[in-house]
Amino acid sequence: MRTTVGIIGGGPAGLLLARLLHRAGIDCVVLESRSREYVEQRQRAGMLEQGTVDALREAGAAARLDTEGLVHHGIELRFDGERHRVDFPSLTGGRTVTIYAQTEVVKDLVALQLAEGPPLLFEAEALAVEKPESGAPVVRFRHEGRERTLTCDWVAGCDGFHGISRGVLPAGRSYTRAYPYAWLGVLAEVAPSCEELIYARSERGFALHSMRSPSVSRLYLQVPEGTDARDWPDDRVWDELAARFAVGDDWALCRGPITAKSVTPMRAFVHEPMRHGRLLLAGDAAHIVPPTGAKGLNLAVSDVRILARGLVEWHRSGESHVLDHYSELCLQRVWQATRFSDDMTRMLHTRPDGDAFDHQVQLARLRRIAASREAAAELAANYSGLPLPL
Ligand code: APR
Ligand code: PHB
Repeated sequence: MRTTVGIIGGGPAGLLLARLLHRAGIDCVVLESRSREYVEQRQRAGMLEQGTVDALREAGAAARLDTEGLVHHGIELRFDGERHRVDFPSLTGGRTVTIYAQTEVVKDLVALQLAEGPPLLFEAEALAVEKPESGAPVVRFRHEGRERTLTCDWVAGCDGFHGISRGVLPAGRSYTRAYPYAWLGVLAEVAPSCEELIYARSERGFALHSMRSPSVSRLYLQVPEGTDARDWPDDRVWDELAARFAVGDDWALCRGPITAKSVTPMRAFVHEPMRHGRLLLAGDAAHIVPPTGAKGLNLAVSDVRILARGLVEWHRSGESHVLDHYSELCLQRVWQATRFSDDMTRMLHTRPDGDAFDHQVQLARLRRIAASREAAAELAANYSGLPLPL
C-alpha cells in the first residue's frame, strides 16, 4: 500500500488529523490496533476548549457536538466550606468551554471516516516505522493475520502513550512526574447535582463533579496510588463524595446507579523533540498531563491542527516552514498546559506526606483566586485554552 500520510492510531489525534487532511485533498490511511467497539467505549475526559470545538467544526465533525454539547461559562471551586465561581466569559473576553465526552468525539469522527473515507483499518497493529530519515518512510503492520507495509511521504505517530512511534525517535529528552495519588472515576445514571463542574479541595482529598449529559454524571475521587476499584462499593463512593463536596449550605449530592468505575494513575510526561525526519508525533504519543483541568484531548487537538497546517502547506507549495518548526510550535503550548495541569493538581490534592503548612499554602492559593480578579483571570485563560502559536 502507498499513501501520502500514514497515520498510526485511531484515537482523537489520528482521527481528527485524517479528517482535516481528507478535507484538504491529501490522502492518508489510519491504522488502529484495537476494534471499533473498543475505541468507542474507552472512558476519557469530556471538557472541550473553545479552540477544540472550533477545530471540530472546521473539520465538519461538530453536528452532534453542536446539539448535544453542554456549553459551560465557568467552574466552581470548593474549599474550606466555601464555594467560589470562576466566570470565564467576563474574565477572558467571552470564552466558554463545552462538555462533550471524548467517546462521543471519537464516535463522530469514526462514523464520518467510515462513510466518507479515507481508509480506517481497525485491528491493524503497527509493528515498526522504517527509514523515517528517508523521503519514503514505511510502516510495517499486521492486519487480518498478515504482515503488510504502508509506504508514505510522512508518518504521523498518533498511537498514544503506549504506542510504538515514540520509540522510533532516536535520543531525545523525556521529562516525567509521577504524583503520589490516583483518581477513582465513576459514571452514574443520575442528573448532575450542579450546573457547572465543581473542583473540591477537602482535607479528605480532592473530588470533581463533572457530567456527560443532563441525565448522566461523571465524578472523581482522589484515592491512594494502587487503589483497587473493587474496594470501593457504590455506597462508599457516594458517602466519600458527599463528605468532600460538603459546604455550609443546603447543597446536596444526588445519588444514582453507578455504571462504570475505574482508577487512573496521575502523571505528566513530555518527550522532546516531537519530530524525527518524516515521523511526527501528536497527542498522547508525545505527552500526557494529569487530568486536573482536562487538557489531554485539547492538547492532542492543538498538535493536530499545527500538523495539518504543516502538511497542507507542504502539499500545496512544497514548503515546509511549519513542519520544520513543528516540535517547537507544539511544545510551547504543551509546556503551558503541563504547567497549568500541575498547578491545578498541586493546589487541589492532599499529599500523603503533606502537613499543616502545605494545607495552609493550598488554601491561600484558592483564596487568592477567590479574592483577585487577576488571579481568577489567569485560571480562566488557561482553563478555557491558550491561543494556538500560529
Ligand atoms: N498500532 C496502531 N494503533 C495503535 C498502536 C499501534 N502499534 N498502539 C496504540 N494504538 C492506538 C490505540 O489503540 C489508541 O486507539 O492509538 C490510539 C491512541 O489514542 P489515544 O490514546 O486516545 O491518544 P490520542 O489520540 O493522542 O488522544 C489523546 O486521549 O488519553 C487521552 O487524555 C488523553 O484525551 C487525551 C487523548
Ligand atoms: C471529565 O468530565 O471527565 C473531566 C472534566 C474535567 C476534568 C477532568 C475530567 O478536569
